[in-house]
Amino acid sequence: MRDKVTTIGVLTSGGDAPGMNAAIRAVVRSAINQGLRVFGSHRGYQGLIEGEISELRTEDVGGILNRGGTFLKSARSEAFRTSEGRQQAFEHVQSVGMDALVVIGGDGTFAGARIFSEEHGIKIIGILGTIDNDLYGTDWTIGFDTAVNTALDAMDKIKDTADAHDRLFIVEVMGRDAGFIALRSGICAGAEGILIPESTSDHDHLLSELIELFKKGRRSALIVVAEGDQSGGALQFSNTVKQHFPHLDIRVAVLGHIKRGGKPSAMDRWLASQLGVRAVERFIQGHSGEMVGYLKGTWGQVSLDDAIKHHHAPHPGLLKLNELLAR
Ligand code: F6P
Repeated sequence: MRDKVTTIGVLTSGGDAPGMNAAIRAVVRSAINQGLRVFGSHRGYQGLIEGEISELRTEDVGGILNRGGTFLKSARSEAFRTSEGRQQAFEHVQSVGMDALVVIGGDGTFAGARIFSEEHGIKIIGILGTIDNDLYGTDWTIGFDTAVNTALDAMDKIKDTADAHDRLFIVEVMGRDAGFIALRSGICAGAEGILIPESTSDHDHLLSELIELFKKGRRSALIVVAEGDQSGGALQFSNTVKQHFPHLDIRVAVLGHIKRGGKPSAMDRWLASQLGVRAVERFIQGHSGEMVGYLKGTWGQVSLDDAIKHHHAPHPGLLKLNELLAR
């Protein structure tokens, strides 16, 4: 493998996230403007396997900075989990002279990239694109801020109708097995309770707090549940609540994939643009096997191994903070 990177690839993989297009744009334009060629793989690793690879020019990434989703499409590729699939992908990578690959996605994306690099020597830099914000090595992942704002807008609307009808609303948000979205949006919405998978959140404690609240005359409330919480999610938790509050009018709202779309926020565009440029810089400086990120107020990188091995969990004090504010 040539040492000096001359041709890089870029792909998006796993759950899409608002800001992925901004990251692709930054990779393409910063690479071309520094003398590199860039190829995009359509539908993530599956595109490498099927040879759906096309050269990208600066004009190809015009008008996408403010669009959600990913114009390169994303997919989860079972075939890439096999060495045969990765061999097929490498043959297509070699056919266009690609010697480095920027992968935009979550920890599953990085795990595949690491094996691909070990087997075939291609240089890899990861950019963290997932709404879950659960990746080690960074304070924020691309898409998290937009997803929180989308969830918050929905919760504000739900609180209006909950108040109008004296209802208890239980709202479920995504996060696979991470409570970042639930915590951030719940605190900002003034939720009376937040349930997240990282904390053995005491459901009985929350229920007794709610009983006290309603005794003091509270007529409506909002509970935010992360989809991976051990309560089994909003629908299941609502059945538990119904047993304690048979008289209460309880409704459930599962926000689901709405948080994956929408125009990326300024924060996500800023993060994605900076990380895209930084990924190309790291290649030009001769680095590989890293995930670029924004940690404690500065740009940096961690090894892909560490990004995959470790998990980023929310600060445990945030649940206490919400208890101080919301009741
Ligand atoms: O990883 C991002 C994510 O949005 C998770 O929060 C969610 O559980 C999962 O993807 C949903 O995956 P899919 O879009 O394949 O249903």
